[in-house]
Amino acid sequence: MMNKHKVFRKNHFLAALGSLDGEVLEIGFGDADTFTHYPESTSVNALEKDPKHLRKAGRMLEVMRRKNITLHEGKAEKLPFEDARFDAVCFSLLLCSVSSQKDAVAEIYRVLKPGGKLIAIEHTLSERPLIRSAQKILTPPLAPISGNCHLDSEPLKAILTKPFRIVRTESMPWFLEPRLYISAIKIKE
Ligand SMILES: C[S@@+](CC[C@H](N)C(=O)[O-])C[C@H]1O[C@@H](n2cnc3c(N)ncnc32)[C@H](O)[C@@H]1O
Repeated sequence: MMNKHKVFRKNHFLAALGSLDGEVLEIGFGDADTFTHYPESTSVNALEKDPKHLRKAGRMLEVMRRKNITLHEGKAEKLPFEDARFDAVCFSLLLCSVSSQKDAVAEIYRVLKPGGKLIAIEHTLSERPLIRSAQKILTPPLAPISGNCHLDSEPLKAILTKPFRIVRTESMPWFLEPRLYISAIKIKE
């Protein structure tokens, strides 16, 4: 049976991928469970910093015979793509672990076309004071041993450091990692 978090991710994030069109960038795809959700009509550029995930995804794509997905090694903070190239940029549980959320969001903004979509699911700082305090206390000892994952990440705040219009947010309590689904549109600076 799918747990609550997986159902939430499927109903919001994965469902949104299925309605995309044009040139898409996914950043930090990990186990690449998103790949089957992109329509065949999209041209997907999937970027990861971890060579292990890139090798696994390469093998997966051979089996899947998907020709519309191209893999790239790189980092969210310095994207190897030209300005205003993409119709959509997608990521799942990425901003919590990048070295600079500000730089990553600025890069996402740069490579999106005006009117392009940002589709994301992240965990976020809780609104509940007790959980919020626990997230803040646990982040410094846990981040170095969990792939730099910050429990006190505030993805919506990070995204709004650039001119995005928030189209929809959905949230779900989930222990120390409450989930937040965000869809937004790039507006002009
Ligand atoms: C928590 S995992 C999430 C994986 C997958 N997106 C998911 O939701 O299951 C974070 C992923 O982002 C990648 N990642 C972390 N920092 C990154 C960065 N600065 N640039 C690109 N990828 C990054 C990691 O290698 C890892 O695969």
